[in-house]
Amino acid sequence: MSASEFLPVVPRPVSTEHPGGAPFVLAPGARVSVAGAGASDVAALLVAELASDCRREPAVVHEPPAYGDIAIVIADDETPADQSAEGYSLAVTAEGVRIGAATAAGAFWGVQTLRQLVPVECASDPLTIDPVTVRDSPRFGYRGAMLDVARHFFTPDEVKRFIDAIVLLKVNHLHLHLTDDQGWRIHIESWPNLTAHGASSGSDGSAGGFFTQDEFRDIVAYAAQRFVTIVPELDMPGHTNAALASYPELNASGVAAALYTGSDVGFSTLLVDDATTDRFIDDVVREVAALTPGPYLHIGGDECLSTSPEDFLRFIAKAAATVARHGKTPAGWHEMGKSAELPDGTVGQYWDFTTPRGSSADETLSFVRQGGAVIMSPSDVSYLDIVYEDGDEIGQDWADGPTTIREAYEWDPARIVPGLGDAHTLGVEAPVWTETIATIEEVERMVFPRLAAVAEIGWSPAPADTEEIVAARDFDEFAPRLAALGEHWAAAGTDFRRVPEVPWRESVRA
Ligand code: ACM
Repeated sequence: MSASEFLPVVPRPVSTEHPGGAPFVLAPGARVSVAGAGASDVAALLVAELASDCRREPAVVHEPPAYGDIAIVIADDETPADQSAEGYSLAVTAEGVRIGAATAAGAFWGVQTLRQLVPVECASDPLTIDPVTVRDSPRFGYRGAMLDVARHFFTPDEVKRFIDAIVLLKVNHLHLHLTDDQGWRIHIESWPNLTAHGASSGSDGSAGGFFTQDEFRDIVAYAAQRFVTIVPELDMPGHTNAALASYPELNASGVAAALYTGSDVGFSTLLVDDATTDRFIDDVVREVAALTPGPYLHIGGDECLSTSPEDFLRFIAKAAATVARHGKTPAGWHEMGKSAELPDGTVGQYWDFTTPRGSSADETLSFVRQGGAVIMSPSDVSYLDIVYEDGDEIGQDWADGPTTIREAYEWDPARIVPGLGDAHTLGVEAPVWTETIATIEEVERMVFPRLAAVAEIGWSPAPADTEEIVAARDFDEFAPRLAALGEHWAAAGTDFRRVPEVPWRESVRA
């Protein structure tokens, strides 16, 4: 790519052309012209961004565009059929800006590209954009981030702030890790003590908290307006101390466990083949499924070190069937692939390293053998709570840490589990676990810029088919695009780590 082809956008679009000529200038009378189903909602989100970032508030009109307008056009023939779900085109000329897409989601992703092209000084300087034509569509339909609200709780407003930040990167799934040993964070009407008691604790003695069902519905709706699907996780049968602390009858001893605020894993388990536990699982899955319009309900299944192998298999078969019975596609961490009795289509989430160890690759392929697909979250490159550098005060290092921005970028989901190709890969997801992360600003400094690397891996075309993925991804081309993104993060109030590998602009080198 020559310098003249450089486009400061992350994820890198499929194709970019620079026709040259006079720039687009957003004049005071410019409008947003909309056509097609969903276009006015997408336009409203664009106008809200222009109002907060640039103090411009163009009117939205249902009229053909005039000279200098921004047009958002949604129609079947705006993107090729094989890219129709989320693809878009963006044309910037002196005459105007035009975003075309077959779906509102595609148009919304086009708006995210446009936002990155709007100069950050737009509140004080003229808003000009050099002519460019972009055609773009994602490699994978699932581009995810995961926020652990169980170890440290984050409020609905903080979750919305997180959603606002991830959509700029075209991330379209937010997996909420809602339950763990340290806290239960979603109110369940039929088991109210899960939140009355089980939400009162958190890692390191933090205050805890939970989402009411109305708050959770509101988060789901906020996400859906931004084309983000919420994936709720109720982790089981391990990682369940908060539930065991809330109801004595879930414990083998009949005595409630004590609340837990430490960082150990693998010490808790639900009972197996127990009528009360079966009713518990049916109730919590039923209530969370009813709150969730998205297709997936994640039931964890990881690190069940206190569940015997036989019990684990019986538990997973039953719990996954319960999810299916309540109309959702079960999802779970790759250990769930030990079961050969998963409902058709069950989704596995790989979290071993980029070089699989033990049986993790086979457990992952088990989901494919059972008609399902896989989300790739290799922990040594995509876990966002791993330290950036030795000596960092926040973060963990167990997953082959530190994880630099370069390591977060130089991998590919198709080259980890032998035999797993793109066809059975739903996409990628970058989790942030919060044992050591207490505030949303700390979350952001761990997540950004590394989520940008994972988002690009999920969206942009696969690198050329070379043996060495490290050589195929061009970090030196990526880093200046991150530097441009840093200005947008700073302008939006999104915190991020000023990692030394990126040539951050002077204005953001705080
Ligand atoms: C995990 O990191 N325990 C999925």
